[in-house]
Amino acid sequence: MIKRYDTPTQNDQDENYAAIAERLMQASESSEDRDSDVSLRPQHLDEYIGQEKAKENLKIYIGAAKLRGESLDHVLLYGPPGLGKTTLSAIIANEMGVNLRVTSGPAIEKQGDLAALLSALNEGDVLFIDEIHRLSKNIEEILYPAMEDYSLDIIIGKGPSAQSIRIPLPHFTLIGATTRAGQISTPLRDRFGIVLKLELYTFEELATIVGRSAGILGIDITDDGKNEIARRSRGTPRIANRLLKRVRDFAQVKGQGVIDKEIADAALNMLEIDELGLDNVDRRMLETIIKIYGGGPVGLETLAATIGEESITIEDVYEPYLLQIGFLSRTPRGRCVTQLAREHLGLSYRTNGKDDVDDQLRLDVDNAMVEG
Ligand SMILES: Nc1ncnc2c1ncn2[C@@H]1O[C@H](COP(=O)(O)OP(=O)(O)OP(=O)(O)O)[C@@H](O)[C@H]1O
Ligand SMILES: [Mg+2]
Repeated sequence: MIKRYDTPTQNDQDENYAAIAERLMQASESSEDRDSDVSLRPQHLDEYIGQEKAKENLKIYIGAAKLRGESLDHVLLYGPPGLGKTTLSAIIANEMGVNLRVTSGPAIEKQGDLAALLSALNEGDVLFIDEIHRLSKNIEEILYPAMEDYSLDIIIGKGPSAQSIRIPLPHFTLIGATTRAGQISTPLRDRFGIVLKLELYTFEELATIVGRSAGILGIDITDDGKNEIARRSRGTPRIANRLLKRVRDFAQVKGQGVIDKEIADAALNMLEIDELGLDNVDRRMLETIIKIYGGGPVGLETLAATIGEESITIEDVYEPYLLQIGFLSRTPRGRCVTQLAREHLGLSYRTNGKDDVDDQLRLDVDNAMVEG
């Protein structure tokens, strides 16, 4: 996030507010999250709120593996950032009673890096590879025999005298996490016995998470206060925890230290996070589609260029929530803004300056796209 402090014009001011709100609503991890997050992370499956389907499956697989005295099958976790993939992998290691080694796709540069990691594992250990979609192809190839046969194939020497030797590995569990399941190669994906998709959380689940975190941090919060924060957290626990901390600051300075609906509301309004959790970037994106592209469809790349965001960021960070609340629809020809979003933003069909016939046409096309 680039912030400019020179010559503060109104525009810059707006941008600064936007930058603050944007950082708050960013589902990706910030250093602030990391500093204070350790205690907020649930340690056991029973403390892990929501994701009932994934949890139910895991309970069965973990129970069965323990009964047989085997290592757990390899697990692939995917879903938008901040939903609890890293947390869940630590829980899995915990429940299995084994060690957890953590690394990430971009951190593994050479085949040797991965070979070293694998050969250092103990029987049953969990190796967690975050952002596994960013592993390079030649490193992935080391993983295939490791996952399938628990062995390491390494080539010694060069040219005609090169020899391949096979080193046995302990039975370990690979847990891969990714926000982009589509970018994982098929041979790699096929080697995961357990594939779990994490979903955005419901308001009720988020309210429970806010309550749990408030309890751990010693924050006084009413049920209304929890709901208010939950409603604006875009289905994402990481954002919920972050908003809770911001609202606490506000409650201590401007209130009696207790978070109730009024305090939460005032604090979040000040941060320009609206009652559905939309921030400036969401609003700008939706307004751009409405005002410049007549509500869509507009292609992802075009949209990204117009609002000055990376298309990956739009896809991973902004879109999932807007799709979930029915503000955006994805069609083969691009993104469309729905009537629901127009109503929320207070932008009717007439605002794009076209005549009625055109509007009606557009409406029909929109509806057709939404339905299709
Ligand atoms: N089910 C849950 N119950 C309670 N708290 C949760 C839950 N899931 C996540 N959290 C909280 O949200 C924070 C973010 O979760 P986590 O870091 O595991 O997300 P992630 O999916 O790994 O994100 P990324 O894709 O950015 O790596 C955690 O620190 C934890 O405090
Ligand atoms: Mg993570």
